[in-house]
Amino acid sequence: WESGHRPTRLLGFTGVPTSTDDDFTVPDGYRIQVLIPWGTPIRPGGPRWREDGSNSAEEQAEQIGMNHDGMHFFPLGAGRESSRRGLLVLNHEYVDQSLLFPDGADEITAEKVGKALAAHGVSIVEIEKRRDGEWRVVDSRRARRVTGTTPVEFSGPVQLDHPSLASHNDPMGTLNNCSSGATPWGTYLTCEENWNNYFGTEDESWEPTPSQARYGVSATGGGYRWHEAEPRFDIAANPNEVNRFGWIVEIDPEKPRGAPVKRTALGRFKHEGCTVTESRGKVVAYSGDDQDGDYIYKFVGEGSWRVHRALGRSPLDHGTLYVARFEDDGSGSWLPLTHGTGALTTANGWADQADVLLRTREAADAVGATKMDRPEWIAVNPKNQDVYCTLTNGSGWDNAVNPRKPNPYGHIVRWTETGRDNAALTFEWDIFLLAGDQEYDDRVDLGANIFGSPDGLGFDREGRLWIQTDVSNSVQNSPSAGYDNIGNNQMLAGDPRTGEVRRFLTGPRGAEISGITFTPDHKTMFVNVQHPGESTGAWGTPTPENPRAVSNWPDFDPTGRPRSATVVVRRTDGGVIGAA
Ligand code: FEO
Ligand code: CA
Ligand code: CA
Ligand code: CA
Repeated sequence: WESGHRPTRLLGFTGVPTSTDDDFTVPDGYRIQVLIPWGTPIRPGGPRWREDGSNSAEEQAEQIGMNHDGMHFFPLGAGRESSRRGLLVLNHEYVDQSLLFPDGADEITAEKVGKALAAHGVSIVEIEKRRDGEWRVVDSRRARRVTGTTPVEFSGPVQLDHPSLASHNDPMGTLNNCSSGATPWGTYLTCEENWNNYFGTEDESWEPTPSQARYGVSATGGGYRWHEAEPRFDIAANPNEVNRFGWIVEIDPEKPRGAPVKRTALGRFKHEGCTVTESRGKVVAYSGDDQDGDYIYKFVGEGSWRVHRALGRSPLDHGTLYVARFEDDGSGSWLPLTHGTGALTTANGWADQADVLLRTREAADAVGATKMDRPEWIAVNPKNQDVYCTLTNGSGWDNAVNPRKPNPYGHIVRWTETGRDNAALTFEWDIFLLAGDQEYDDRVDLGANIFGSPDGLGFDREGRLWIQTDVSNSVQNSPSAGYDNIGNNQMLAGDPRTGEVRRFLTGPRGAEISGITFTPDHKTMFVNVQHPGESTGAWGTPTPENPRAVSNWPDFDPTGRPRSATVVVRRTDGGVIGAA
């Protein structure tokens, strides 16, 4: 360990067993509180949640959205007050249309598309810790929803006057907001992941361009069928609207009327997240492209981010985007995606830097990036600047960095940038761990702490690595998948120095655990629960009264429906989460 001191014990809690219960389990001495489930008004006194799904689009736009994912706590006030009051900013990744409307999604109407758009995006709520230790939402001038119809701006090399962004409607909205990031200057980054799912067409003559095909744009999309009622999402009638998605979007929580800005220099792909660190005054932002066989990227700012800010410029508009190449000998390099460099020349069909960024995946193909097993979250160890990335599962790609073929359980790769400078262009990598169950794969060495499909990832300030899982329900329910011992999705804590991991909590049935943030004192942890009850047929018997209520977390209301929520985790003794 770098300091030369004896390592202190990082994992100071008793691990919990796997679970298939429709509830949370946490270690002895910990308690949880459910905060802001889907439909909670973002201001006390706002439109109240209706358990039958009958809130209108206008009401949904003043309520917490659906399917919580990435999240960040921005403290308000100084000193101890900063851990008692703050803005909680969180993503709403997608919608389950069978839960969103009272009559399900057999028929799609413009009103339904409006409500679905209002349930996407980002929520900003002001929260405070009461004397009894519980957290609550308070009224705030900063409370806000950013949705699929919020006016947005574009910045960086792809400007709104670019012909590829000319659409039939004003620029608006952010969709499929997956993992997140936060900048040193106090803004939130939300990341557009599976945006291709929202577009489709009934025009049988339509065929995708090569670039659209590379991003998975198709006539049927992800099954939302919005194009049937809303021409904005008809890929044949409005072909450029799709180019307005796939970006990193910056939101300033201190400017509740400010437009979110799409930062195009960070590239266009299925951004899982955007993990920001600093190196010698430069901003460095890592982002995975979550598709089987896609890539890991990093953006390195040009010069001091503080100077850009002082001059009124965004540090995220000035810099170079790179894509990762992992060699089988444990070395690696970052390949620039810069017009005129390497394969990305005019002679090879690349018009300019905007063209490179609009077609980031094809540019990365052209320079020889390394195919990966679905890159999800990336985290930087605050103790030594090592970088960790979850590869949730995938095909295996005949390279050493994806060592299983196929890879049903996923793994975590780690790299050290040369000179521990996150702006460096070379690195050394190793496999931090292989997820899975040693009963089915003897390369796995997790003891009782088996898990699969790592996804959410984050370090706390003491260097504990928190790992969250997203086993898909189709896999979990399949008898042949090798997941039968693993139970519900979970969160574990790892010691990066020893490789030990220990299960910290398990979530309700059908839910993914995704999104993690702390108060500055680390005595409160916020965790998100996404899609409880998603197709959980294997683990319960639906009742006639509530056929989808195999999970009915967190309300357990027999006439209600399961709801995504944020969960507050605290210790009964008020100590630091995870510590001894
Ligand atoms: Fe939205 Fe790749 O998780
Ligand atoms: Ca998710
Ligand atoms: Ca994810
Ligand atoms: Ca996932």
